[in-house]
Amino acid sequence: MKYTAIILAAGNGSRMNTKVKKQYLQILGKPLLYYTLQAFEESFVDEVILVVSQGETPYCRKQIVDFYGFQKVAKIVEGGKERYHSVYEGLKAVKDADYVMIHDSARPFVTDEILNRAKEGVEKYRACVVGMPVKDTIKIADENGYSKETPERKKVWMIQTPQCFEYALIREAYKELLQKDDCSVTDDAMVIEKIYGMPVKLIEGSYSNLKITTQEDLITAEAYLRKKSEFAEKLQ
Ligand code: CTP
Ligand code: MG
Repeated sequence: MKYTAIILAAGNGSRMNTKVKKQYLQILGKPLLYYTLQAFEESFVDEVILVVSQGETPYCRKQIVDFYGFQKVAKIVEGGKERYHSVYEGLKAVKDADYVMIHDSARPFVTDEILNRAKEGVEKYRACVVGMPVKDTIKIADENGYSKETPERKKVWMIQTPQCFEYALIREAYKELLQKDDCSVTDDAMVIEKIYGMPVKLIEGSYSNLKITTQEDLITAEAYLRKKSEFAEKLQ
């Protein structure tokens, strides 16, 4: 079975509010995107399609892919305005895959364990997404800002990436979505739910698989990486 990962790095990182886009920010001496690509380089995934912003292909190829010697990056393509446009550009660049794993470059701490669980999930359920049950109580608000509903906590999940699908299934679903120009989708699972009305299986990710979005997340990211390298040193 051939697995292709689509790694999305075509966002603007506006909530990070830095001059350098968040995917290129240095964390412990290496760009954030390095950690994400490294996780896939070390995994069972056969090939990676990297999606970057318009005009950033030469920089990414030279400064990241070639510099760190990532062998699995088969193509670098340019993304679009919204995340779902970027995903579609990635999907169009996939060649002969059985399964695709769509992953946000902003989640550099994805592990082999998570990728393996996602692999098992997609082979069994055709469509699955990684996530975790929420830790906080969640309230649904009414129009006036009053608490209307409190869903049962163990039934509420925060969704992460990778989101994994049979390639033909997700490619067709995205094609239809783009034809309709439906811009209400915020993740890939929603595309499957909307187009096919098909349920998507939730697979356990990890609370460490965080998305780097704002400045505070950089502090957590750095602490996490330090801990990881201390642990690796102890094992040696
Ligand atoms: N992404 C993308 N193409 C877009 C928008 C987002 O490839 N048009 C990618 C981002 O690079 C990121 C992932 O999708 O890895 C998740 O998006 P998010 O965390 O929202 O990142 P940004 O859109 O870059 O950040 P912000 O929303 O703060 O601008
Ligand atoms: Mg965004």
